Amino acid sequence: MRIPEHIVEQIIRQTDIVEVIGEAVQLRKRGQNYIGLCPFHNEKTPSFNVLPERGIFKCFGCGKGGNAAIFLREHQKITYPEALKELAKRAGIVLPDEGDRESREEYNRQDNAFAVLRAAGNFYYLQLLAESGSEAMRYLEKRGFTEEIIKLFGVGYSPDSFNATGAELKSQGYAEENLLDAGLSIKREEDGRVWDRFRGRLMFPIQNPTGRVIGFGARRMNDDKTQPKYINSPQSLVYDKSHVLYGLFQAKDALRRLEYAILVEGYADLISTYQAGFQNVVASSGTALTREQLRLLSRYCKRLHIVYDADNAGVNAALRGLDLAVEEGFDVAIVTLPEGDDPDSLIQRDGAEAFQRCLDKAQSLVNYKIEVFRKQGKLGTPAGQADAVRDVVETIAKVPDTFKRDFMIRDVALRFSLSEHDLYRELNQMLRRQQFQRIDQAGRERRVETNGIITGRESSLAVLVPATQALVTQAVSEESAKQQAPEGRYADLLPEEQELLRIALTQAGAVGYIMQRLHISVESFITETAQQLFQMIADATEHHHEPLSWLMQQEALTERNGSLLAALAVREETPSERWRDYNVEMQEDLKTMLRDCMIKLHLRRYDEELRSLQEQLKHAQDHEEPMEHSLEILKQIKSADEERRRLQEVMMGAVV
Ligand code: CTP
Ligand code: MN
Repeated sequence: MRIPEHIVEQIIRQTDIVEVIGEAVQLRKRGQNYIGLCPFHNEKTPSFNVLPERGIFKCFGCGKGGNAAIFLREHQKITYPEALKELAKRAGIVLPDEGDRESREEYNRQDNAFAVLRAAGNFYYLQLLAESGSEAMRYLEKRGFTEEIIKLFGVGYSPDSFNATGAELKSQGYAEENLLDAGLSIKREEDGRVWDRFRGRLMFPIQNPTGRVIGFGARRMNDDKTQPKYINSPQSLVYDKSHVLYGLFQAKDALRRLEYAILVEGYADLISTYQAGFQNVVASSGTALTREQLRLLSRYCKRLHIVYDADNAGVNAALRGLDLAVEEGFDVAIVTLPEGDDPDSLIQRDGAEAFQRCLDKAQSLVNYKIEVFRKQGKLGTPAGQADAVRDVVETIAKVPDTFKRDFMIRDVALRFSLSEHDLYRELNQMLRRQQFQRIDQAGRERRVETNGIITGRESSLAVLVPATQALVTQAVSEESAKQQAPEGRYADLLPEEQELLRIALTQAGAVGYIMQRLHISVESFITETAQQLFQMIADATEHHHEPLSWLMQQEALTERNGSLLAALAVREETPSERWRDYNVEMQEDLKTMLRDCMIKLHLRRYDEELRSLQEQLKHAQDHEEPMEHSLEILKQIKSADEERRRLQEVMMGAVV
């Protein structure tokens, strides 16, 4: 059977083309793209390119090119639908069962709903440009929206009539059932009467991440308070408001480029903000943020600036909602606007610079919370302070990254003049409680997922690993080609150096922890290779990037260092994302592991020193140097040995 177009889109979108092709072709990273020897014709120098950002491959030798499904079709000599099914399976997308009429019909209905929504969007847009839309157009002009931005967001106007939209869409061949499925029409059960849902309103099409219209937000254009300001599409076959971020389709590129999102509340806020040059903006459309929305966003960035009205009555309740974002691994900052403003009103009145100034003053969630407690006068009493601390530590406990937690705890300790020890005790209690809750929740989610399309949560490592797998495969096979090159896979790196580098490379925040808490610097490493690599990782971290992918794109990266980094990053011991969900102890283990590595490095230095001292001692005795010389060396040996023993005890857990 035919796979519906929107499902095809979803399959292609969720496929990592580098991973798919990398299984058949040895790929080497060059800039953003990958190159290799074309599997479709004979060549000695690579002219076969894979462009992950665009999801395509292209051979400049033989001219073959296309998406991942076309690659599979050509390479495995199968049909296009077969290739799509293969990719769907990899992506965990459940396709309608061929034999199952019900699921087939469901997919057809969805397909039709998408089609009629697109037709409606076009119709509303044309209505805005038509004579009958002139009042709406004047309203938009008054609000400062340019023609260009109106087109980009497809803003339109629904005619002020009970059946104009329905009649138009039916004349285009859509059935009443399609209109009802799409939420464009309303049917009264008692008498079966059907009419248009959106009448005489400004229409904001709501799009999914691939740009398909899935619903509308419709604003009234007058001050008639008896009418709701906004009417939104109802839940439908294709629209679930808790899964949607308005503006995401337009913001995608900027989110990736700038690596953070500005979250606003409304449609007008979003458009004004975007128009003012802040293209990394998404809107929750008046609802509290949901976990699904956050997971959707986390494919593009992991930092979130939430814009707040200063006069928001339910500040505390809303703040609790933000913990969800923290839990999903976001760095959350709060942007406060002047009282009474929303982003739209501020920008239209004072311009983009005024908004930028607010962005610059964004406060981290924890600091913001403390500020709120201070304003509420809670920090004056010991009891109030204890409440505040518990609240803040509760937020910190939700941070999935153990290193980030560490820094946050230290910050709170300083701010409240509390002992880190007490805070950790509180934190560990909460962590354990959350761990149980999460296991419980994971169980429930898995049950829900079994009957629907699974849009799997991508772990940062899962994304990272395929890209580097190719490099490793290449590095390894190059080595075997060299008949067991003298250097092993990790060159001359010492085991503890490998461990430290691996964690620094793959765990967000680890570099900071290693340097600031463990006082490890470049010089602490023993081999020159490790010193070089650590320096590189530390530099990369400063650029706020995923260190590995950033490093791999650097021109100056030597092939040797590149394959070493890749090999380190994909080592099997690399803690998986699942650690977060299930095992607090294992996260703590990560810190213990780092500490042990540090101690091992020190131990090696002492061993080195002891060896050299022993030699000196032997030399002094063999040459009958003055006794005090030998005694001095012996004293040094004794103290180095004691130091060494003490360190070893620390490592065995005897002393903490
Ligand atoms: N909203 C809604 N239904 C309403 C009111 C609001 O769905 N009856 C949602 C809309 O997504 C709206 C957002 O909540 O954009 C914020 O509401 P509000 O601040 O009242 O509207 P603005 O976005 O500021 O719209 P405008 O500037 O056009 O008044
Ligand atoms: Mn507004």
